[in-house]
Amino acid sequence: MSPIIERVASFDYVVFGATGDLSLRKLLPALYERDRDGQLPDDGRIIGVSRSALSGAEFRAQAADALARHAAPLDPNATDRFLARLDHVTADAQGAEGWDALAALLEGSADKVRVFYLATHPDLFGPICQRLERAGLATARSRVVLEKPIGRDLASARRINDEVGAVFAEGQIFRIDHYLGKETVQNLLALRFANALFEPLWNSGGIDHVQITVAESLGIERRGGYYDRSGALRDMVQNHLLQLLCLVAMEAPASLEREAVRDEKLKVLRALAPLTGADALTHSVRGQYRAGAIDGEPVAGYLDEEGVAADSATETFVSLKAELRNWRWAGVPFYLRTGKRLPQRVSEIVIQFRPVPHSIFGAAAGATLPNRLVVRLQPDEHIRLRLMTKEPGPGGLRLRAAALNLSFAETFKRRVPDAYERLLMDVVRGNPTLFMRRDEVEGAWEWAEGLLGAWRDSGERPKPYTAGTWGPSSAIAMIERDGRTWHEDESAVKDADPVVLGAAA
Ligand code: BG6
Repeated sequence: MSPIIERVASFDYVVFGATGDLSLRKLLPALYERDRDGQLPDDGRIIGVSRSALSGAEFRAQAADALARHAAPLDPNATDRFLARLDHVTADAQGAEGWDALAALLEGSADKVRVFYLATHPDLFGPICQRLERAGLATARSRVVLEKPIGRDLASARRINDEVGAVFAEGQIFRIDHYLGKETVQNLLALRFANALFEPLWNSGGIDHVQITVAESLGIERRGGYYDRSGALRDMVQNHLLQLLCLVAMEAPASLEREAVRDEKLKVLRALAPLTGADALTHSVRGQYRAGAIDGEPVAGYLDEEGVAADSATETFVSLKAELRNWRWAGVPFYLRTGKRLPQRVSEIVIQFRPVPHSIFGAAAGATLPNRLVVRLQPDEHIRLRLMTKEPGPGGLRLRAAALNLSFAETFKRRVPDAYERLLMDVVRGNPTLFMRRDEVEGAWEWAEGLLGAWRDSGERPKPYTAGTWGPSSAIAMIERDGRTWHEDESAVKDADPVVLGAAA
């Protein structure tokens, strides 16, 4: 059965940074997909704003090219309808040029939902909002969308939030973390709160530890200028990984209404034990990739990438052990890991349950593997639960680890929408549940700053790792010191081997 798709209210989507990578690769294709599914209203307009001197027709040509590359296969009717919605205004965020033209285009549409999507450098968020206000464009039905990163530390995040907050009320500000729009991430809410099965075990009594891995085989592409000032902690951990941690660890919200989920996530961020000083150094590992190979193809080292300082100490890999100071999670480590140029692109959350309290299977009982729930966010989205079973057949009683596997592709046989599709429509609907509130962003920065400060004070450089490996060996040592291993190390080997126990059946 096809899902019921409700049309959203009449809107004008104004995308700043319209000719940039994010807009062409993600935003326009996402809006196109929603249009193809009939979700956009007939009079919905999309106005690209950039500094490029482009006519509407030239922008439409760029958009058509981007759709062909990022949204294929295209439906010709849907493509024509979508392109007809597009227009372009040349404007400079820091100058007076172009704002009258934008105002003229938006004239008479103050009663429509008006979305200003700022796909620009965060330093421009404040100036753009001020210009919008001065041009009288920030109406009561306006919303502003801020792309991450919101600043590079707590002070700059506060400054940006103040500047944007001087023009728009908090309820009009949508801070995007595209991980929250991923289908499998939303599925975490369904898994935890639409099933009674796991919740009684979902605490330090039932769970041994949690692993969150977001691995990428890509390097930094052409983003050296940005990335070298940022690094893996700011680029991935402060936002995406902490948001995932929040969804795993939060209490059940009273509902999915506006603030309920965000209130619970904030409590998790506030419960994070600070990682500072010596603790920060023993509980974290930073790495930087050297030349190596991915899928047999040689790739350059980080220091040789375009836009990277020759002596850069920016980390392209982080692993860390986080702990929460609350009743539910006291004593349960959350191991987080992310990096560029790792052997494969894989994002997953692993919940390792505690072992059985007493094994009845004799001498080899120690080999019984504890249950493990793996939520694979991408690619090949699935939820897999490892159970111990009896290997079929005569002979000894052999135990074997097997998995209950819920593959989304096989179960639902439907295209998995890109995260942005859901989020862009939520902005029009005015639903902020899957967006980050100001206090969440600042709470996450506060915690991340402890770690950044400890690294800076230590004067240590990130540890090198060869591109195509799972990061520095000390990341493996960090978890092994606690008698545990990263998920991929174990699953390939042990799950496959039956454990032979007891006498002949
Ligand atoms: C972005 C980071 O937020 O997320 C990138 O800035 C990273 O460095 C990207 O590559 C990963 O997103 P996804 O959806 O491909 O996992």
